Formats: sequence, structure tokens, C-alpha cells
Amino acid sequence: MADPHPTWLTDGFEHIWLPYTQMQDAPLPAPIARTEGCRLIMADDRELIDGVASWWTAAHGYNHPHIRQAVTRQLATLPHVMLGGLAHEQAYTLATRLANMTPGDLSRVFFSESGSVSVEIAMKMAVQYWINKGASGRSRFVSFTGGYHGDTFATMSVCDPEEGMHSLFAGLLADQIITDLPADTMKQQRFEELLASRTSEIAAVVMEPLVQGAGGMIMHAPETLRFIREACDRHGVLLILDEIFTGFGRTGTLFACEQADIVPDIMTLSKALTGGTLPLAATLARTHVFDAFLSDDPERALMHGPTYMGNAMGCAAANAALDLFEQDPPGPRVARIEDQLREELEPARPLAGVRDVRVKGAIGVIELEPHTDHDWMKAEFISRGVWIRPFNNIVYTTPPLVISAGELSQITSAMLDVVGAWGTHKNKEG
Ligand SMILES: Cc1ncc(COP(=O)(O)O)c(C=O)c1O
Repeated sequence: MADPHPTWLTDGFEHIWLPYTQMQDAPLPAPIARTEGCRLIMADDRELIDGVASWWTAAHGYNHPHIRQAVTRQLATLPHVMLGGLAHEQAYTLATRLANMTPGDLSRVFFSESGSVSVEIAMKMAVQYWINKGASGRSRFVSFTGGYHGDTFATMSVCDPEEGMHSLFAGLLADQIITDLPADTMKQQRFEELLASRTSEIAAVVMEPLVQGAGGMIMHAPETLRFIREACDRHGVLLILDEIFTGFGRTGTLFACEQADIVPDIMTLSKALTGGTLPLAATLARTHVFDAFLSDDPERALMHGPTYMGNAMGCAAANAALDLFEQDPPGPRVARIEDQLREELEPARPLAGVRDVRVKGAIGVIELEPHTDHDWMKAEFISRGVWIRPFNNIVYTTPPLVISAGELSQITSAMLDVVGAWGTHKNKEG
């Protein structure tokens, strides 16, 4: 058996700075040597079924030959050229395809390299939209408790102020309007009053449709989303839908907004866009948004241009990932995953410390009482041959959309097992 702690890991651990991690007492992460289908293969050859799809990206599983060939071909012919003044086929083709596959007239595509940046761009677009229309005071955003849109400064300002992992920076962030999702009549009335009384300050409402992911996999009904769209229309406020997590089939439809039969003014996409291979994001705008930037005045243009925007290998990976979505639309597969998750996670409900069990599309969640046993849980999952990364008080799975029924059962039984064992563990520790 190979070394479970190879030297690249132990040496590099003295130098790397890990995400969301207190480095003082951080355990060594699981070293992964290879990936294959829905599996992560560790340095010592142990296999883990990936219940997280690498932060929700690897929709088609790992090392899909179609994506691999597209990226390899692109690397050999044209890995990257700047989009300022030059054009390459992959970015232009991808823009056309995204415009055609997203709902309504979301017809203009601005590329970037990460989800956070694509949301920053969406926010900048919304503010400049109003400036270009001669309404310059409209620079504030309405967002929702439980929301998460990224870790950069503008995106931090529209995350949940407590749960959004950014409370330390509260004083430095732009002052936005963060309110509850209008999921009942009283909240709807308050939301309507908010938009009515502050229209002249508000650029846009920004939200994750149907499922707030990193805020705790919190779900809302399509009717709530439709109400928000209609309220934005009534008060002349733009709606930005952040489909970075929900896009590309995760909630059952290709885009979550389709379940509410609505079209946002601006949409952001990333994560599964390249099937979990290369960093790429897109901000899509509807025609009326794009048209507000057309002018004889060069200063009305969108002044933004990340160096690696529209990277050719990323776009080649995305075009290949879209081929796979077109050949085999994710809807029926996600419906099967949803049924299985519902059935197999339900027995967790009566377990000690469990507050809720919920499922939407290929997202299965066991919500627990608050705890700090995340590292203990991760190790327990690894010992059962499964990769699950609990956070806050939830244990969740967002598997690759191509996961087999057998592999998914291994994930759900590990979730039940570990949550059950945690009941005893926490009593012993406490
Ligand atoms: C809904 C949503 N928006 C934005 C982001 C930020 O994306 P990135 O981590 O690529 O910057 C995330 C990441 O989890 C997300 O889930």
C-alpha cells in the first residue's frame, strides 16, 4: 500500500494556507492521487465516493473522456488568448450556446474566472445600468438572510451577515439591505413596502433561486421566487439570480428559475459549467440590460476585463460539458436521485440531534443541532469510504449527477451511520 501521508503533503502542509480553516490545529486533509467517475482515490489507494462533487462542480463525474479530449485538444492548439481585441472559437461558441440554452432573452454573456467575480460583475452591471439610464443614486442591493454569493468584498456585502462567514468585516462592507425571503404573506407585504419606499436607492435584488447553498442548503418554494420577480417588476428593480450552485440541473431543471417560470435580468453561472475541470464563470444579461450600455459615449461601456476571461481551455471544457448535458439532459437522472435521497435519508429524522431532513433535486440534507464536530465527522466518513464535508449544523450530499444508485446508497447509509454515531460521540464528549 502506498504511503497514506506522502511527503508532498507533509512538506507542503508547512506552507499551504487552506480555505475556511483554523490552521493552528488543522488536521492533515485527505491526500487525493487520482479521480475516476464518482470516486476520489487517495494516496494510499483507498477509494472515496464523492458526495460533494468537489464543491458542486463535477456534475458528469471525474475524467469524463469527452471533456478530457476537448481540453487536451485545446491545450495543444490554443490554450489562451486575451479577449480584449482577439477572438477565439471556444468563447464565442460558448456564448452563443449559453444564450440559447438559458431562459428568455438572457442573450449577452460576460466571462470571468470565478463565481464571486461573476457576481461582482453582475452587481457592477446593475449599478451602471441605472447610471447609464440617468438614475445614479441606485447603488444598493437587496439580498436575503441565509444567502451566499462569494468571498470578495462586494459579494460579502450581500451574504447573510451572520452565516455568510464574513461577520468580522461587517464595518468595512457596503451597507446593503438584507432581509428575510418573502415566504409568507406578512413577509411579502414587508418586502413590497421595502421595494416601494426605497426604489430610488436600489439597483437590484440578488438571490440564489430555490436553494441557498453555502448558507445552509435552505430551500424555498418556486412561488416565493415568482413573487420576488413580480415585485421587482412592479417597482422597477432589477433581479439578479445567482445560479452558480443551482444551475445545470442540480435542482431538477436545467436552471432553477425555470421552476418558477421566470427570467432574471442578470444571471450568474459557474461551478458545473466546466463539469468540475477548469475555473470559469459567466454573467448573462437580458437585452434591455445590455442595451443600456450602448451609446456614442465610450464611458457608458462596461469597464471590466479579467485577464483570463473566456480562457480557451475553460471554454472548451464548458462546451464539452454542455454537449453532455444536451446528449443526456439531467432532468430524469436528477429526479431519480431526488426520489432515492428522499427515501434513504428519511430514516435520519428520528435520530438524536436531528432537526430536519430535506431534499431538493440532487441535494440531500440532514440538519443537526449546532455542534463543532466537523473534523470528527469527516474522518468518520472517510473511514466508511465516502467524502462528505459537513459545515455549520448540516450534513449534506450534492453528488455528481451521474452517480449510480448503488454509490448513492453508500453515501446515504454513511450519512445515517455517522449521524447516528455522532449522537453517542457528542454525549460522550459533552
Ligand atoms: C451561489 C454561489 N454564488 C457564488 C459563489 C462563489 O463562487 P466562487 O467560489 O467560485 O468564487 C458560490 C460558491 O460556493 C455559490 O455557491
